[in-house]
Amino acid sequence: MTNKPDRAPLPVDQLTPLEASAELASLAVQIAAHDQAYYQKDQPTVSDASYDALRRRNAAIEARFPELIRPNSPSRRIGASAAEGFGKVTHRRPMLSLDNAFSEADLTEFIARIRRFLGLADSEPVGLVAEPKIDGLSISLRYEQGHFVQGATRGDGSEGEDVTANLRTLKDLPQHLTGPVPRLLEVRGEVYMARADFFRLNEARREAGEKNPFANPRNAAAGSLRQLDPSITASRPLSLFCYALGDCSEVFADRHWQLLQQLRNWGFKVNEQAKYCANLDQLLAFYNSLAADRALLPYDIDGVVYKVDRLDWQERLGQISRSPRWAIAHKFAAEQAETLLLDIGISVGRTGALTPFAILEPVTVGGVTVSRATLHNEDEIARKDFRVGDRVIIQRAGDVIPQLVCSLLDKRPADAVAFTPPQLCPVCGSLAVKPEGEAIRRCTGGLSCNAQLVERLIHFAARGAFDIEGLGEKNVDFLVRTDRIRAPADIFRLEAKEAGSLLPLKTQPGWGARSAQKLFEAIAARRVISLDRFIYALGIRQVGEATARLLALNYQTLSHWRAAMLEAAAEPDGEAWRQLIAIDQIGPNVAGDICEFFAEPHNLRAMDDLIDQLEQVEDFLSATGTPSPLAGKTVVFTGTLQSLSRDEAKAQARTLGAKVAGSVSAKTNYLIAGAEAGSKLTKARELGVTILSEEAWLALVGK
Ligand code: IVH
Repeated sequence: MTNKPDRAPLPVDQLTPLEASAELASLAVQIAAHDQAYYQKDQPTVSDASYDALRRRNAAIEARFPELIRPNSPSRRIGASAAEGFGKVTHRRPMLSLDNAFSEADLTEFIARIRRFLGLADSEPVGLVAEPKIDGLSISLRYEQGHFVQGATRGDGSEGEDVTANLRTLKDLPQHLTGPVPRLLEVRGEVYMARADFFRLNEARREAGEKNPFANPRNAAAGSLRQLDPSITASRPLSLFCYALGDCSEVFADRHWQLLQQLRNWGFKVNEQAKYCANLDQLLAFYNSLAADRALLPYDIDGVVYKVDRLDWQERLGQISRSPRWAIAHKFAAEQAETLLLDIGISVGRTGALTPFAILEPVTVGGVTVSRATLHNEDEIARKDFRVGDRVIIQRAGDVIPQLVCSLLDKRPADAVAFTPPQLCPVCGSLAVKPEGEAIRRCTGGLSCNAQLVERLIHFAARGAFDIEGLGEKNVDFLVRTDRIRAPADIFRLEAKEAGSLLPLKTQPGWGARSAQKLFEAIAARRVISLDRFIYALGIRQVGEATARLLALNYQTLSHWRAAMLEAAAEPDGEAWRQLIAIDQIGPNVAGDICEFFAEPHNLRAMDDLIDQLEQVEDFLSATGTPSPLAGKTVVFTGTLQSLSRDEAKAQARTLGAKVAGSVSAKTNYLIAGAEAGSKLTKARELGVTILSEEAWLALVGK
């Protein structure tokens, strides 16, 4: 979804050819990106309604400017090309998509077009079959002599992915067909996941420590079918409805209605709701009753599909670009409901991001009781002016988490309260800051914030930090969930605590005496740690391994570093701050994050608690095994060096914590003078700066 302010597009009939051409180009790019997100990554980036709006706009502009239709126009493409990893299958008959009708008028026009195309008299009825439009992913199943031989996804409509092995694991898919069967038969249908199965699957995944639940049943179905390992697909509760034919060696029905019956007789699952409708009124009655009962169905549907019943008419009607003339999808409007915005809550993510959400008076939308909705970020709340106490419209567009659409201003009570962004993290009480120009507010509590704990601890125990073997994501998650660890210091108390526990680690699922003992030993081995690893492990924003090393080099001892950072945090622009930003490659931005960390008392407590648990945080030693003689020093190079280049010498200086300056001043500690040194040497002499020859320099850096 874009964050650009909504600007009403120009009506299509007011566009100049130039504007139209530019917009078509932009629409092609946008639609292709959404297609890719939807079809290949199973992670849609827009709601179905917004996507349909883009496609409609594209179609409307192309209708007015047919000469501008691009070769890669979205109207000529279906879906996205096949993902890599699966074999490719060329569909013998293309897998088409459906045109959409959004209103009764669209539907009237659909039937009128059929009449015109076939030249039917007004008195001739056009019988249609109405079926629920299942919200899943379409597949094609190939049978030879009644045996299932190949199954494929739609892909781009002409080429899909070979998912035969995965489809074989579906309970609804008949492997062999009973009774007389055409030699070659391709059946098309929809793989989907029932709503209850979807909720159970997400719950089981959450319990297993999976962080990213599927957003909706459609994504869950697509993600489950497109697994390279069929045993994973087999473990997922996928279902199947069949509703059309692809390639077929014999004609066995002359009406779609008969075709559905025959599919059923062969053992395919055919949707029970499908209904023959003799006229427009019956279609609308079907649509309205299904829309009303939609929530009662055990699976998600996003509309109704109408198909001309006579197969000979289907044949004559054929297709126009990507969709058949004989069928249309009548989409349901996104399900909306009105409710009361009771409050705005704040959730804190694992990385410390504060996200506001709406707390609502519970209301049923699309069969799901909703009491919360996402609000994205505080700028969006301000832009849409949501106030606590407002009557609001919420919407479920296929996704489980609904969105807040708008406030009903005519119902706004006088005492409705505008949202004030929190200044403190609601989980740990630390300061929450939103840098200028950024959309996200973040907790600065880092080490002490429970919401961020798992992420922080994983970082803490990771390779460049404390490097504790056995403390990866899964085990950290377990130890936090079972309340064994709440802060880094707890890691070092674990063994002692477990010794007195009634339910020691070794008795827990997934653990044994050996694995528990190994973990305790790995932890014990890290009670002595180098200063750079210690600093990196704290997880201060923007302080990666290289910056941690620079800090360690420059301050050398834990007590020196700790005191200096406290001073820098306490006195903006004071001496300690200036020293910090004087370090080569540490600018005010990084220094600001370090000070933010030190300004937060919760972090200090967690850090000091950790220090108490450690045996020793080693002073930082340079490669020579002694404290770096250059840490915090400013050096200047002049003249030509014989045994190394100026750049190499500068790099040596920086690695050892020195700042390399371009000119000599009273702050210069060393001038390294090569051959033919000039004015810098004179100036250094005047100022009494220590002057080193190339040899003396090499000795100093241990080369
Ligand atoms: S018929 C040539 N019937 O909707 C027409 N499609 O938006 C073939 N779909 O690609 C499709 N339920 O994935 C048909 N009862 C139904 C359907 C259905 C869901 C899907 C299908 C299709 C998409 C088009």
